[in-house]
Amino acid sequence: MIRISFAVAVLLGIATPQLARAQDATAGQALFKRDCAACHEIVPAKIRIGPSLFGIVGRAAGADPNFHYTAANKNSALTWDQATLDRYLVNPKAVVPGTTMTYAGQKDDRKRGDLIAYLATLR
Ligand code: HEC
Repeated sequence: MIRISFAVAVLLGIATPQLARAQDATAGQALFKRDCAACHEIVPAKIRIGPSLFGIVGRAAGADPNFHYTAANKNSALTWDQATLDRYLVNPKAVVPGTTMTYAGQKDDRKRGDLIAYLATLR
């Protein structure tokens, strides 16, 4: 009995860090390909329907010189740090009213965290 409890405790000890898993940039990359890549490039100076997201984490809003932004985005005075991206990607039009980014938003906190972890690798 004692040995079984010990084995269970050891198993739980191993399993717990995986349950409370860190943000997963690889999962975020798959989400990006599905939800963002049609409109956003990840290399500098290349635009699609939206601006390049190279170096986006920490960048000021409206800072891709190759892209013609709406005044709403350009004048938002936001900096795309992780907390701001987290708010924005839930519902872009709520954070930047008047933006032309047509994306309904990612409501799942974990998936948003994964996406932002991936965006942070684009540098
Ligand atoms: C249908 C096209 C479309 C999709 C899909 C889309 N975007 Fe956008 N995105 C845009 C456009 C267009 C803009 C510029 C908006 C403006 O100027 O108002 C933009 C702007 C942004 C900005 C602000 C960039 C800056 O330089 O200020 C971020 C960050 C962003 N998008 C992230 C994402 C992410 C992450 C996804 C996927 C979860 C995504 N977008 C999906 C079209 C899209």
